Amino acid sequence: MFQPVGPVILAIESSCDETSAAVIRNGKVLNNIIASQAVHQKYGGVVPELASRAHQRNMVMVVEEALTSAGISLTEVDALAFTRGPGLMGSLLVGVSFVKGLALALNKPLIEVNHMRAHVLAHFIDDPKPTFPFLCLTVSGGHTQLIVVNDYLDMEVIGETQDDAVGEAFDKAAKIMGLPYPGGPMIDQYAQSGNPKAYVFSKTSMPGFDFSFSGIKTAFLYFIRDERKKNPAFVEENLNDICASIQHHLVTMLTEKLVQASEQTGINRIAIAGGVSANSGLRNTLKQLAKTHNWDLFIPAFEYCTDNAGMIAMAAHYQYQKGIFSTLDVSPLARMPI
Ligand code: KG4
Ligand code: ZN
Repeated sequence: MFQPVGPVILAIESSCDETSAAVIRNGKVLNNIIASQAVHQKYGGVVPELASRAHQRNMVMVVEEALTSAGISLTEVDALAFTRGPGLMGSLLVGVSFVKGLALALNKPLIEVNHMRAHVLAHFIDDPKPTFPFLCLTVSGGHTQLIVVNDYLDMEVIGETQDDAVGEAFDKAAKIMGLPYPGGPMIDQYAQSGNPKAYVFSKTSMPGFDFSFSGIKTAFLYFIRDERKKNPAFVEENLNDICASIQHHLVTMLTEKLVQASEQTGINRIAIAGGVSANSGLRNTLKQLAKTHNWDLFIPAFEYCTDNAGMIAMAAHYQYQKGIFSTLDVSPLARMPI
């Protein structure tokens, strides 16, 4: 039987330190090419200027690879999608300029995508897919948001961090202990054989479903400084327990709000997105909570949790269906509401 071929969209992502391109056809993500920027490692965090330069170096390469591996030529592309924001201004500018040039040369429409909305829509790339409404906790190096998702393009942020993101707190804690960047995965690794109750940190309470992570960053800094005064080898001798304890603290801060949000909204379909959703402590806690609270839990594959163009392509697909396009005047937005 004749199968109509849906739109082909080429999507790019360049909001922070991953340069990525993906092709989606008829709602199916065909690939997801990611060039990660190792250049930031020695600085202990993302250096915006270096990120922009690396995007510029890698963009053509990832786009060519996405097209080649999908077996699609540029003339077959129906629309070009890109991350408009939020993100680092220089990094976004590289992506926006590149995609505008292509749109102009090919005379194809542009689709601007909100990066945070795309993190949520990553849940529709593979099965199982959540049904609406669901609650999504988006946790990464740049974001911590609790979102009620009513439909593909209808979302409401009910809580978010008022200062740092939870990924930043993981990375900062790791840096204080002398672990390399990004420290989140290292803390996760050492925490596996540590006691999560070995050290207890005081809690910061925030109204509603909002979060704050700047207090725990400072508290952890002073804790390590004071313990090192008593024993200079404190971190080295207790690394597993320290990692397990700080991880437990951060995970509890996230999951307490999630439980409250589920109870207050009556929504028991729970999804997580963003780089920190790779954290095994968070995953295990959520799996336990899913049992005790009767939740349906959705965790995308890791390649779609961290920044990637596959999720931008997925969001663009739904916008294309609704005829939501942008003009060539579009400019990046470092801060952009969902
Ligand atoms: O989504 P992502 O790749 O980029 C941003 O948009 O920020 O998230 C990166 C963040 C970093 O802070 C990194 O330390 C954290 O995700 N991360 C983790 C783990 N894997 C990545 N944090 C804790 N445990 C992990 N296993
Ligand atoms: Zn992100």
